[in-house]
Amino acid sequence: MDEPQFRTIIEPFRIHSVEPLRMTTAEHRRQVVQDAGYNLFQVHAQDVLIDLLTDSGTGAMSRDQWAALQHGDESYAGSPSYFVFRDAVRELFDFEHVIPTHQGRAAEKILFSVVGGAGKVIPNNTHFDTTRANVEYTGAEAVDLVVAEAHDAGSDFPFKGNLDVDALERLLTERGDAVPLVMVTITNNSGGGQPVSLANLHAIREVCDRFGKPLFLDACRFAENAWFIREKEAGQSGREVADIVREIGSLADGMTMSAKKDPLGNIGGWLAMNDDTLARQCRDLLVLTEGFPTYGGLAGRDLEAVAQGLKEVIDHEYLRYRIRSTAYLGESLVASGIPILTPVGGHAVYIDARAMLPHIPPLHYPGQALAVALYEAGGVRSCEIGTIMFGRHPDGSEHPAAMDLVRLAIPRRTYTQSHIDYVIEVCQHVAAQSSSLRGYRIVDEPPALRHFTATFEPLD
Ligand code: F0G
Repeated sequence: MDEPQFRTIIEPFRIHSVEPLRMTTAEHRRQVVQDAGYNLFQVHAQDVLIDLLTDSGTGAMSRDQWAALQHGDESYAGSPSYFVFRDAVRELFDFEHVIPTHQGRAAEKILFSVVGGAGKVIPNNTHFDTTRANVEYTGAEAVDLVVAEAHDAGSDFPFKGNLDVDALERLLTERGDAVPLVMVTITNNSGGGQPVSLANLHAIREVCDRFGKPLFLDACRFAENAWFIREKEAGQSGREVADIVREIGSLADGMTMSAKKDPLGNIGGWLAMNDDTLARQCRDLLVLTEGFPTYGGLAGRDLEAVAQGLKEVIDHEYLRYRIRSTAYLGESLVASGIPILTPVGGHAVYIDARAMLPHIPPLHYPGQALAVALYEAGGVRSCEIGTIMFGRHPDGSEHPAAMDLVRLAIPRRTYTQSHIDYVIEVCQHVAAQSSSLRGYRIVDEPPALRHFTATFEPLD
């Protein structure tokens, strides 16, 4: 008999241990968010019903990851857990030096402390906010060179994360001496979780070779990116994801990683490279801020959990479910007339708040208005990715970001389809009242990464 084909893609796991959700009322949430200065980062998680603030460190570990914790060896130096971790990383990204860090930004901080500095320029498709902040903190300039399609919310170009290779070539021709390395973020989080094609990575490698520049990956969502390559890129459909990942890794000279995303850890990260001199400089800094090079700010048990997560995340059934469930949320919002960035990315759905709330100008933060409304209405916590996150510049000026988005990031293996159906209903409810939403003004903000701690006030 033929294998029957079913439309429903189920979660490829069943629930083994449950965490209660705390139900709250809209009245309670309105008070909570006011007390938090209308900053959702300042809201206590127990006052959130469905937490889509981030997919970072919020995933559910598997039975085998919890079991792996028991193998954690907490020796200060030379822990066997380090070698399990190193080998699991090298299985996919075969770099000579694998340096654990407590999370991705620690790897960025170390890397850019070594290669950055005043007068330096770091190109990337789009720097994530911590990456940009770590580059700029050293006095270097962070330049985003994503392809033009990325800024066209209506375009269905499948690889909107691609880096504009001509723009990179121009930058390297004009300012090549100032560029210590080229970075590519896979998937391009700040650009909507959009993938980068293998062809684009090959083209970037070719330009880097021509100009003698190392290529580094910011590879937090490498497995999701590889799945998109398998699904959408010509000639890639039959391939093993692990094989695609290895090819991606082989094109780079190093990487930064947040193990809180695709490696399925609740904490962790690493910095990897082939260059011995660079590795030595990075390890010297690691010892100052993270710890000895065989644990780098992590417990041995964390290293074990990440090593096991790396084996699980490249599973095709997992990735099919993961990418399909994100698309399900996106497609349902589109069907409700809510403007989103398309095609839907890997880890999140991005609502185009500027299009949804055209009566709120960018400097009155339409993304913030929408995010607060989703919280007040349904206890759904999302994240503004727009003018609040990117609008303030090192010279103190403020300009509208390229887009004002609200990100609904989906933690890995954490919520079920009925949770997502509830989120869809909350979005529909807010969309029905969108013309009554008001903008915000900033009452107080820190000098960098203001979205975490700024306080706001609704405008009349
Ligand atoms: N690079 C990218 C592309 C990221 O998305 C993140 C984190 C980092 C680097 C930094 O890693 O958090 O481990 O220090 N992104 C999270 C998010 C915070 O919500 O998108 P980290």
